[in-house]
Amino acid sequence: MCGIVGYTGMQQAAPILLEGLKRLEYRGYDSAGIAIMDDGSISVQKVSGRISKLCELTEDGKTCPGNVGIGHTRWATHGAPTDINAHPHMSNDGRFAVVHNGIIENYLALREELIGKGYHFESETDTEVVVNLLEMYYTGDLKNAVMRVSSRLQGSYALGVVCSDAPDEIVAIRESSPLIIGIGAGENYFASDIAALVPYTRNVVYMEDGEFAQITPDAIRIYDLFGNPVSKKVQKVNWDVQTAEKGGYEHFMLKEIIEQPRAVEATLRPRIRGSEIVLDAEGLDGEFLRKIRRIMITACGSAYYAGCAGRYAIEALCRIPVSTELASEFRYGDPMVDSETLVIVLSQSGETADTIAAVKESKAKGAPVLAMVNVVGSTVAKLADFTLYTWAGPEIAVATTKGYTTQLALLYLFALYAAKETGRVDDKRYRHLLRALRSLPKRIQEAVDLNPMLDRYAEDYRNTRSIFFIGRNSDYAMAMEGALKMKEISYIHAEAYAAGELKHGTIALIEEHQPVIALCCNTIVQEKTMNNIIEVKARGADVLALAEKNNSEIISVADRMMYLPEVEPVFAGVVEIVPLQLLAYYTAKCRKCDIDKPKNLAKSVTVE
Ligand code: AGP
Repeated sequence: MCGIVGYTGMQQAAPILLEGLKRLEYRGYDSAGIAIMDDGSISVQKVSGRISKLCELTEDGKTCPGNVGIGHTRWATHGAPTDINAHPHMSNDGRFAVVHNGIIENYLALREELIGKGYHFESETDTEVVVNLLEMYYTGDLKNAVMRVSSRLQGSYALGVVCSDAPDEIVAIRESSPLIIGIGAGENYFASDIAALVPYTRNVVYMEDGEFAQITPDAIRIYDLFGNPVSKKVQKVNWDVQTAEKGGYEHFMLKEIIEQPRAVEATLRPRIRGSEIVLDAEGLDGEFLRKIRRIMITACGSAYYAGCAGRYAIEALCRIPVSTELASEFRYGDPMVDSETLVIVLSQSGETADTIAAVKESKAKGAPVLAMVNVVGSTVAKLADFTLYTWAGPEIAVATTKGYTTQLALLYLFALYAAKETGRVDDKRYRHLLRALRSLPKRIQEAVDLNPMLDRYAEDYRNTRSIFFIGRNSDYAMAMEGALKMKEISYIHAEAYAAGELKHGTIALIEEHQPVIALCCNTIVQEKTMNNIIEVKARGADVLALAEKNNSEIISVADRMMYLPEVEPVFAGVVEIVPLQLLAYYTAKCRKCDIDKPKNLAKSVTVE
């Protein structure tokens, strides 16, 4: 998974490309490079390591003259992160350079074919076949060459191309990987993500799969892969630079935790009008929902855990069976879904390969798909039958926080809407729950304010090797996300465990000072979890519990406490996760981890 940018205009291209790549670093950051049209020939600068290294190499682009170019920041899929494997890649004849996000699935066969025709390869990447195919098919007509090459490629790709015969042009090609065109005055751009365009323009065009664009400073011509012109709507981006910047916080992750009340508010408010819930997804109405016999929620990572938490609310309110499945399992599991199964997919980026595949598999089986995604115009959004956006704004930290809580909030909203439309809740309970939904942003803020001591608690985990997160029912689902947050940013092994299951083996691991985080927010099973706290303490565990602030029983058995404000139990998850996010953040901070860009991770995994 990578980030690509392109610029053509009257300014020096290299500094603009490097600035754009910095804003895409979360998409992958093991190597970076730029290719600039310089006086009729292409000059490439590329290096393994972070973009800062490329900036040093080129004095922030000053040493790279030229007003047209493309850039790339890489998350390795084919070939280790080395200088040679870094993009851009050049054709043998030096006439083309290419940057690529995605996977060319038939690259080995293409590579063999090209080698058989006398081409040589420098890198181990799949991308290098693209640039040499361009050379092979080029007969002076760039558009024709692009169409012929695209017809040979199988897999996913967002490609940026420069050609020395077209010195003021950049070409963008999209198939199953995000690509957006930015429109300036006498200059134009492309990028994998809006964040790279926002400092320069807010007028954008979303490319669709199977389209390519020839972009010059004064014109943008978009075609389908048969060469037919395609007309597109220009959209206005309302994310300003500050929104995509850190806003004064030390890390994007902390900024995004703190802005969760606003993000959840932005996600819910426009959909609650008076005493009505209005879902902005045409056709997702009572008549449709009354035909649904079961729900399957599928996603990856934190999005999957949001689904596991949302499942409890949907079952409690709608009394309809809900199952959850990892998208990477779902896509190959010949899933039992049909026209009476609503498949709900969750994805912050809307570009996660396994989730996209799960959508396609569901549709192939005739199941209607509801997507809840954060990125407008993303692939999942476009493929689904119904799309509800989470409107969390750009999420830059690799570890999701507001992406997760807005997904969960949207699942709660959907659960209440569906319960009302299928007659499962009476008016009184509906109005009570609608008020509770409206109050969630405030409850999230209270969860932040009630726990000022988490940075001190985090110090206790500085040298910890493993932590258990235990809970029952919806608390168990929250434990899953709490454990993932701890693992992915502090690199401490953490395991979520059903509290009632410990005695069936795992309790053998509990020894003196073993840290255990016990979630006791679900009032129905709270007493049982309290017994589990006593069980592990009897074996020497050190227990940090999370419960409502006036719960004296839990306070009496735990060693330390995190507090939950009073909140409607069925919607507690979106509040309960906040102290766990902050605890993970402060633990990672005291362990001096790279919080916004944890090792080995990328923000959106657009490959299998
Ligand atoms: C979350 O903290 C992780 N970075 C990861 O698990 C993420 O949730 C997962 O890759 C799914 O991403 P998506 O929501 O963009 O589909």
